[in-house]
Amino acid sequence: MSRPLSVVVLAAGMGTRMKSDLPKVMHKVAGKPMVNHVIDAAETLAAQQTLVVVGPDMDALKAAVAPHPTFEQTDRLGTAHAVLAAKPALEKAQETGGNMIVLYGDSPLFTRTTLQRLIAAREDGDCSVAVLGFRALDPTGYGRLVIDSVSGDLTEIVEEKECDEAQKRINFCNSGVMCFAARDVIAILEAIGNDNAKGEYYLTDAVAVARTCGGRCVAIAVDEQETLGVNSRQQLADAEAIMQDRLRARVMENGATLIDPTSVFLSADTRLGRDVVVEPHVVFGPGVVVGDHVKIKAFSHLESCVVAANADIGPYARLRPGADIGPAARIGNFVEIKNAVVEAGAKVNHLSYIGDARIGADANIGAGTITCNYNGFLKSHTDIGAGAFIGSNSALVAPVTIGDGAIVAAGSTISGVVASDALVMERAPQIEKPGWAARFRAKMKALKAKK
Ligand code: UD1
Ligand code: MG
Repeated sequence: MSRPLSVVVLAAGMGTRMKSDLPKVMHKVAGKPMVNHVIDAAETLAAQQTLVVVGPDMDALKAAVAPHPTFEQTDRLGTAHAVLAAKPALEKAQETGGNMIVLYGDSPLFTRTTLQRLIAAREDGDCSVAVLGFRALDPTGYGRLVIDSVSGDLTEIVEEKECDEAQKRINFCNSGVMCFAARDVIAILEAIGNDNAKGEYYLTDAVAVARTCGGRCVAIAVDEQETLGVNSRQQLADAEAIMQDRLRARVMENGATLIDPTSVFLSADTRLGRDVVVEPHVVFGPGVVVGDHVKIKAFSHLESCVVAANADIGPYARLRPGADIGPAARIGNFVEIKNAVVEAGAKVNHLSYIGDARIGADANIGAGTITCNYNGFLKSHTDIGAGAFIGSNSALVAPVTIGDGAIVAAGSTISGVVASDALVMERAPQIEKPGWAARFRAKMKALKAKK
């Protein structure tokens, strides 16, 4: 049994450099708010409590992290002050013992493996604090990790503004992620003062405080890329690029072929089965599950939908929320499906809108068929039976029920109920006048010649 774990996520900053109406941590990476990436990483470690420190007026953020409790830090007096805003949760952690990790809500790339390594480092040395560091290409702006050359222990973290010239040359930097012995954390945080260049309560002072109390501290290193914190739209795009590469690698490891991985965009929760082939330029929004042996052709866009095994999608298909595509069904070019079940083997191959509908197994929906599901006020349902054939350019004015095996003649506008195996046709009668075209041309030529 591993020891109990509490996780505190700091997210009180607005992130002014984002120039946004949203709190910074609500900006999305791979379709999911950054703060939820951080929480989900904590969840993979089976934390007994994960809580978020938020700023004032951040109701949307509170909702996004629910049911995890939030604590409000009213004044931003520093990272140690922010953690203490969650004091009731810290007290709980102190009672149960084990580990307490602090994460930043704007750093979405830390992995479960890394966090596990940090916990192990703290436990192995029975340390008060373990810090996740990295070798920075450019250490400017980061807290520097000072390591004792004899013991290898971490002796202090010095913030950039407090560094002397020698310390400024240290490139081993604080990522911000720290793991505490839960039993010590309140005493350490409450002993931290704010007598420094910024007048802030620095969480990083926890190291020096712990050592005065006789505790050990250590630092381990992680790849700099994982520590990326997002402060600007550019860094948001950088985090997205790194995350996309990870997600692409994951779906390929699980047996999907991406013909051109860099042109396929995935969401954090995208699930692709074995032997799925994805052609270039496909976008997966959140909530997509794709079964085995599905082919998704170029330029398709999918979100909140399910595609069963052996289905064939695209090119240029749009699967919107609630699209449920059955086994071996075919959805072709310029077809939009929303909140509709397309059962096994059914085909909607060209230029259609299918919304709020069921298409029965093996039904064939002709080119240009439109379900007219909305009357400006309410949405209505279209039900098409198994094996039905809908002729091209038909308008189905919902509510519509078309029985199994019925045929709708091309160009019809259908409303109401069509019986199974019936033919229904809604067209003006065809008129044919033999020879009329030739007579017309002769007359017109003569007229033109006179002028
Ligand atoms: C912090 C670390 C620094 C580390 C760097 C890594 C401290 C004192 N310094 O510096 O050693 O190298 O991160 O990026 O911790 N926050 C609150 N309330 C506050 C202050 C901050 O919630 O009162 C949150 C911020 O929203 C942010 C995180 O804590 O998510 C870090 O704060 P920030 O001001 O960015 O710290 P840095 O100066 O970057
Ligand atoms: Mg920062």
